Amino acid sequence: MDKKELINRINKLKKEKNAIILAHCYQNIEIDLVADFVGDSLGLSQLAAKTNADKIIFAGVYFMAETAKILNPTKKVYLPNVSGCDMADMINLEQIKNFKAKNPNVPVVCYINSTAAVKSECDICCTSSNAIEVVKSLNTDKVLFVPDKYLANWVEKNLKNVKITAYQGYCPTHFKINAEDILNKKKKNPRAITLSHPECKNEVVEISDFVGSTTQMMEYCKKSNEKEFIVATELGVVQRLQRDYPNKKIIPISNEIFCPSMKENTLEDMLYTLENENNEVKVNENIAKKAINCIDRMLKVM
Ligand code: 13P
Ligand code: SF4
Repeated sequence: MDKKELINRINKLKKEKNAIILAHCYQNIEIDLVADFVGDSLGLSQLAAKTNADKIIFAGVYFMAETAKILNPTKKVYLPNVSGCDMADMINLEQIKNFKAKNPNVPVVCYINSTAAVKSECDICCTSSNAIEVVKSLNTDKVLFVPDKYLANWVEKNLKNVKITAYQGYCPTHFKINAEDILNKKKKNPRAITLSHPECKNEVVEISDFVGSTTQMMEYCKKSNEKEFIVATELGVVQRLQRDYPNKKIIPISNEIFCPSMKENTLEDMLYTLENENNEVKVNENIAKKAINCIDRMLKVM
């Protein structure tokens, strides 16, 4: 089947089934051709919270589809390929319970990149775009943060009066980026502005001109009068910036900085899932009831 025919069939089935496709910016760029919304984790959860669709096809990783299901218990949510997030999988229910037991009576913030079971044990969720505001909203001087130690460190640096005890998880994709890579790119492109994601190591964030979520970096690039950007994050963001701003020079760290779990979905998978309704995501009712508080509380902050 050629691409045009594939896209037509996907769009026709979406209409017939009142289904939408939500896609993260790290997905293969061809997914944008059929997605109803492409964005970062916060944008995706905000959209999932207000959609009127009966069915949600999630082009992303497991925790994203799980979050959409928790927000829409009566709707059907599908994950065309059951791919997980390596950072989310660094902490499980037992580990969060132990972490809390070692640090009692401290509010727990969990990055949205975590399983529903972990969320069910936390007080409030955050994404990379609202982590600072979420921690601030707690009005406390001590916080536990799971699972991303680098995001926790960046939040702590931005909020002088809060001591964050971080679980020692991290994103293996962003971990591959080193300060030296940026300095090398800078030597060849001295006027370039460096954008990085707060999942990057401290040494990377410290030498960046702007640090923000996927969407925040893309917005920065859109609004800036500058013409050259070193983009220290996942390849999907680099490729979308190159597509959307052909007059700007978008410089990747390397084509090797990609998240394998995010690259599994193809247009063919979207069609297959719309036709066969495979891989429906289910969340245990008791876990979902507890986890929704954590997500709702974040959505009220922003
Ligand atoms: P954001 O979507 O918040 O930028 O997070 C990036 C990420 O790693 C998603 O898994
Ligand atoms: Fe998880 Fe990192 Fe992949 Fe995002 S990029 S889904 S944090 S492993």
